[in-house]
Amino acid sequence: MPVQSQIRARPDRYRQELRADARAGLTATPKTLPPKYFYDERGSMLFDEITRLPEYYPTRAETSILRSYAAEIAELSRCESLVELGSGTSTKTGLLLRALLDRGTLREFIPLDVDSAVLTDAARLLAAQYPSLWLAPVVGDFEHDLHAIPPGGRRMIAFLGSTIGNLEPRARAGLLAEVASTLGAGDTFLLGTDLVKDVGRLLRAYDDAAGVTAEFNRNVLHVVNRELGADFKPDRFDHVALWDAENEWIEMRLRSVGDQRVTIRDLHLSVDFAAGEELRTEISAKFRRDGIRAELTAARLEPVRFWTDPDGDFGLTLARAAS
Ligand code: SAH
Ligand code: AVI
Repeated sequence: MPVQSQIRARPDRYRQELRADARAGLTATPKTLPPKYFYDERGSMLFDEITRLPEYYPTRAETSILRSYAAEIAELSRCESLVELGSGTSTKTGLLLRALLDRGTLREFIPLDVDSAVLTDAARLLAAQYPSLWLAPVVGDFEHDLHAIPPGGRRMIAFLGSTIGNLEPRARAGLLAEVASTLGAGDTFLLGTDLVKDVGRLLRAYDDAAGVTAEFNRNVLHVVNRELGADFKPDRFDHVALWDAENEWIEMRLRSVGDQRVTIRDLHLSVDFAAGEELRTEISAKFRRDGIRAELTAARLEPVRFWTDPDGDFGLTLARAAS
């Protein structure tokens, strides 16, 4: 089965960046940690569990769009090479792969993710399901490593799951500009975006009854403990999900239960948390159709088609690099 061994964009950089991000974020006011550090093997498994929770509608909504329109997307893109950013398990992507193989154009699939464990598992499953496909997984950061993607023929870059919403607006603009400059004439970009909706439903999706999202949120503390020799006690932090109406995003935070001091050995750093103090761990922006169009066109990506699910919960946009 044609699975190329994982390309590692910059093996040394993850730890260096975590050190810099942890130092900057834990000494800032308010304290923050970037969401990409949720995803080690355990974090990816917890996210996968989240996608099956009754409250977490985005994965089901995006899957239903792909079920209805994958053939149309395949016809519009006619790509030979599919790149997926933040690919995770690539479960939904199977619908696209199937449609593109049926269309007769697709030759290779390049999933790119920061977590090598999830990529290994995904590649094993995909190789069994799509034996004719050349698989070339890349362990990397979609904010830095688009240049590490091996060149291919006519290409589609897919960024599903609304992971773009986990970036701040300025970082989103930077990423979209990088995507645009990576695409050649005739190439396409497929973007999944969760849409603004009833606030109660949004909050439940990020604070499920079974507590899986709370555990996912605390996983960033387990990662910092393991990677940087810190002594966070994750059960001394409560999960918080709130809606920021002005920015139209969900914010996840970890609220300190009582006064506590945390030592990050590898940074020679001690950090005090006051009782009730919150550490921001994620934003998850929700989008409107006009806003998506504006962000894409600002990056010189021309929207070609927009699809949504029957309930209008989620949007999928196909765009082309402007000539
Ligand atoms: N695309 C999948 C998974 C979404 S979860 C879906 O739609 O269900 C977000 C994924 O992006 C995780 O697999 C995580 O490891 C990856 N990720 C997060 N930040 C990343 C970054 N900066 N670079 C590369 N991958 C990243
Ligand atoms: C990956 N990302 C789009 C998810 C989201 O909905 O923002 C991560 C997540 N956070 C909490 N639940 C799921």
